[in-house]
Formats: sequence, structure tokens, C-alpha cells
Amino acid sequence: MAFPSAWLDELFAKNEIVSVISSYVDLKPKGRKLWACCPLHGEKTPSFSVSPDKQLFYCFGCHAGGTVVQFVMDMERLTYPEAIRYLADRVGMEMPENVNDQALKLARQHKNRLYEATRAAARYYFECFTDPELGKPGREYAQKRGLTPEIVKRFGLGYAPESWDGLFNRLTKDGFTKKELLDAGLLVHNEQKNSVYDAYRGRMIYPIIGVNGQVLGFGARVLNNDKPKYINTGDTPIYNKRNNLYGLYLHKNEKLSDLIMVEGYMDVIGLYKAGVTNAVASLGTALTQQQARLLKRYVDTVYIAYDGDAAGQNATVRGLDILSAEGLQVRVISFPDDLDPDEYVQIYGKTGFDRLKENALSLNEFKVRSLANGFRLNDENDRERYAVRACAFVGTLQPIEQERYYKVISELTGYAVEALEAQGARSGGMVLSEQPVSLRRGGFRRRNDSPEQPRFIQERTLLAACITDPEALKVAIDAGAGTLFLTEAFRTFFEALIQDPKLSIPQYVSAIPSEDAEAISSLLKEEGVMKNAVRTAKDCIRRLQEADGQASLEELQKRLAEPGLSASEKAELLQKIQTQIKAKK
Ligand code: GTP
Ligand code: MN
Repeated sequence: MAFPSAWLDELFAKNEIVSVISSYVDLKPKGRKLWACCPLHGEKTPSFSVSPDKQLFYCFGCHAGGTVVQFVMDMERLTYPEAIRYLADRVGMEMPENVNDQALKLARQHKNRLYEATRAAARYYFECFTDPELGKPGREYAQKRGLTPEIVKRFGLGYAPESWDGLFNRLTKDGFTKKELLDAGLLVHNEQKNSVYDAYRGRMIYPIIGVNGQVLGFGARVLNNDKPKYINTGDTPIYNKRNNLYGLYLHKNEKLSDLIMVEGYMDVIGLYKAGVTNAVASLGTALTQQQARLLKRYVDTVYIAYDGDAAGQNATVRGLDILSAEGLQVRVISFPDDLDPDEYVQIYGKTGFDRLKENALSLNEFKVRSLANGFRLNDENDRERYAVRACAFVGTLQPIEQERYYKVISELTGYAVEALEAQGARSGGMVLSEQPVSLRRGGFRRRNDSPEQPRFIQERTLLAACITDPEALKVAIDAGAGTLFLTEAFRTFFEALIQDPKLSIPQYVSAIPSEDAEAISSLLKEEGVMKNAVRTAKDCIRRLQEADGQASLEELQKRLAEPGLSASEKAELLQKIQTQIKAKK
């Protein structure tokens, strides 16, 4: 939920963090912070700190942290908008919708016009589809793909005729302005000719419908094998693909036991036709946190059913962590023979799909198995390398879970479970640079987790230096330090600081997910301890750079030592090693 920033500034100014928290606990000053026993978890010695400078709180015991809004959310068990309202009430401020904010009102009116425009467009595409002449190619395509009239109606499908201005003429006649149609993504602007034309031509139309029933945008598919296969509405004031899931609106008022995540429009539709009515699509992009949260509002369990091809597999691994981080149970369905869900149900029907669903893998088993991608398990060396990798991963899991997965690795490689356990215990928790990015960039660990990794601490110290002293920030910018932050919350915060060194930290922190807010407020650990921020920054940058360079150099050298390399592979590796070594000088 977005609140106007001037309004939020006033809210934060009036709800000074120390005054709010003081009404719950007795804060005692020490250094630049105030301390108390944490009101969020029971304790006897104070590890709960509040920084009046940064307007943030952080508990060294339970790792809760964030702005005054987060504190009220935790303390009063409120959602974000509820906490905002609570704080507004506390200081007698009107909620922004009641404030006479002209700009906000205009923006809302404009958005409503865009919703009307997309709805009118969907109606137009449907009329074209049913038009005896114009709609012929669309209807032929629909027939070929088994899109029955019921399905067309259910999903609001349509057809955009081969015309540069069909939609333009109709919708301007209906009173929409050129700007409205451009803003809604229905027209494209040609810079050179300074003219506009219809965005979708000669394509099957799949409206993207929001959970409240509004038409947000469109997917448009070619009827043949031309490229691009799909054109999708880009970001508009009413549509952002990161925040939506195709097909979710069908379940607005339903009680579901689970949802099936698929990649494409036709997967949702194909499954629906086969009787699997609870699929939603991420539309070809990697899953986002916003989408994960949306899912969580509907269900606790999500089945991932991405395409059987390699691209689908990679997307799967990336999506898994995001979903489980939001507390969703994740199961992974794999399709044989590179089939996508739509193709699969056409052959094997709902019965076949239900069987795959019953046999879906747990998240960790899926990871253990997919780490084997790219290794030839009938080759002794590959088998060993895979086992080392997989054990390093299993070693990071809860002890109770480990046994199951060592068995899986044993089954795949033939090594004895005991040997694998020993291997896992040795490398357990070690971060392997070969692991998929999503495993490494776990971001900030949840509360009450294992001790912090040195890497995380170094990144945090660097960032703390940057907010302590503008000179240190300059040093970091000059060194291109953005790429050194593996913790995503830190990297984005650093980028925001570059944009605006006087960034309002409370506002920034309020707008990010709560675990990222915890990471940022853990910066308070370094605050006050730091004497020379510029020197600290330089030091951290050097170490982080070294760690990155060193890791990849070692990896290159390891690879060079592997048997069976071709001459050209060797030459390429040597070249890379030389570049690395030179760069160090
Ligand atoms: P069909 O080939 O019609 O069965 O579509 P599909 O849903 O199986 O599509 P596919 O698996 O190829 O791609 C999955 C999703 O990625 C699609 O539904 C689109 O949202 C998106 N996508 C596919 N091709 C393109 C493309 O060329 N451009 C863009 N922007 N998105 C695409
Ligand atoms: Mn398909």
C-alpha cells in the first residue's frame, strides 16, 4: 500500500520512535542508543536497542528490527496498513485518503480511466473474435488448440485483427484519449513518425485480470511460429507483472487446498480444460516476493509445475526459495519428456496429472536432485563432484532432515550413506560458489538462526560505514561496491543511497519486506562502534573484493586440474586465470 511520501514524513516526525516505544518499555540511554529488555521476546538482560538518529530499533537477541511501524506491527500484531492507521490515530492525523490531496485524486481518476480502457479493449477483441469475417483466423487457431467457446468465455479470450488502427478508431470513438490508450499499453508510439498504432495485431488475446476483476493488461500470441511468440503488456500505472498472477482472480471467493504454479497462459487454460482448475501462471518470469505473498493469502501449499525443459528447471530453483521464505509449503511436479503442463494433460489427462502431483518432490529433495543437472552420473569423476556438492547442501539442513537426503544422494551415486554423512558433516554449512545463485543469496537469515556468516558481517559493516559518513559512501561508490553485496537487501539499500545520499531511512525501511528491514536495522550493530568510517569502508571493500576474486581464481584452478579437458577448454581457463591474476596487481 502506497501512502503519499509527504504524509508519511509527517507521520514519522510525529511518531518519534523513542516516544512510541517508551510507552511499552523503560528505555535507558547508553552511548548513542537507548536500551531495554526486549518486549517482543522474554529476556532478563537488555538486548533491545533504539537509535534516535536512525529512527530504527533492533533486538540483538531475537533479531527483530525496523522502523516504528514494524515495532507497532510486531507489538500489536497488526498488518502494515493497520499499523499506519494506529500511528495516525495516535497523533490525530487524518488518513491520506481523507486529506485533500489533489495530485492523488487525479492519479486515481487516471487509473480508473485506464481500467475502463482495458475493459473496452477486451470487449473489442472479443467482438473481433466473433466477427464472421475479421475473426476467422482467431477462431481457426482457437479450434486447433481446443479453445472451446466455454473456455473463450471463461478466460475472456479474443482476437486482435491484422490492423494498425482498429482498436485506436474504436476506442477513441468511445471517448478515450490517445494518451489514455498509450498509458494503458494498448497503443505503441512510433518516435520517428511521431504516430501511434495498435500494440497487438493478428494475435490471439489473453486478458490479464486482477484479483478484483479489473482487466490489467494482455498477452497476445501469434497464430503461427513467428517471433516473438507472445507480446505482453509492459509496466503501466495499472499493471506490473511482478505483482500479479495470471488466473488467480478465478479463485477470489474460493476455499482452496493448494495452487499449481505454471509458466504460461496456455498451461493455466489447458489444465483448466482438463479439470485441474486451480493453476496460476507467473507468465514466464522468475517468481517475485510480491507474487509469493499473493499466493500466501490464498493457500499454504503451492505445487510448482514448470516446463520440463532446462529453462523451466532453472526458473524452478529460483522460485522455490522465494516461496518457502514466505512460509509456503512447496512441492515440485516434474514432467517427463520436456512436456509442458498443457501438453502433458492433453496426453495423460487429469488422472495422469493427479498421479504426478501425488509424487511431487519436497523442496529439498528437488534441490538435491537438481544439483545433479549437468553431471554425468555414470562417470566416476562427475559422480564424486556431484556428491561433494550435494552433501555440502544437505549439511546445511536440519539434522532430522539430513538422513532422508543422504539416502537420495546414495541412491543416485552408489556411495554409502555413512561416507556421505561424513562428507556433509565436514562441508556442512559451507557456501560453495558452484551452488545455484538462489542458494547463495539466501539474504538475511530468519530470527534465532545460526551465527552470522563473516561475509554478511563485512557487507553490513561496509554499509554502516556508508551511512555513518558521506565520505565513506563516496569511497564505496568510486570502488563500484554495489556488486560486492551478495545480500540483496544490502545491495538495494546501497543503490538507493547512491540515488539519494540523504535517503529517509524510516521511509525506505517501511517500504521493504520485513526480513529485509531486519537486515537493514541490524546495521545498528555497527553504529556507534565505528571510529573511522572511511578507513573501515576501504578495508571492507578490499576484503570483499579479495574474497570474490579469490573464490573464482581457486575455482578456475580447480577446474584446470580436472582430467579430460580439451586443449581449447584448457586455453580458455588459462586465459581467465591470467586475467584474474593481472587484475590483482
Ligand atoms: P504455447 O506455446 O502457446 O503453448 O504457450 P506457453 O504458455 O506454453 O508458452 P511458453 O511455455 O513458451 O512460455 C511461457 C510464458 O512465457 C508464456 O505464457 C508467456 O507469458 C511468456 N513468453 C513466451 N514467449 C514469449 C515471448 O516471445 N516474449 C515474451 N515477452 N514472453 C513470452
Ligand atoms: Mn505450451
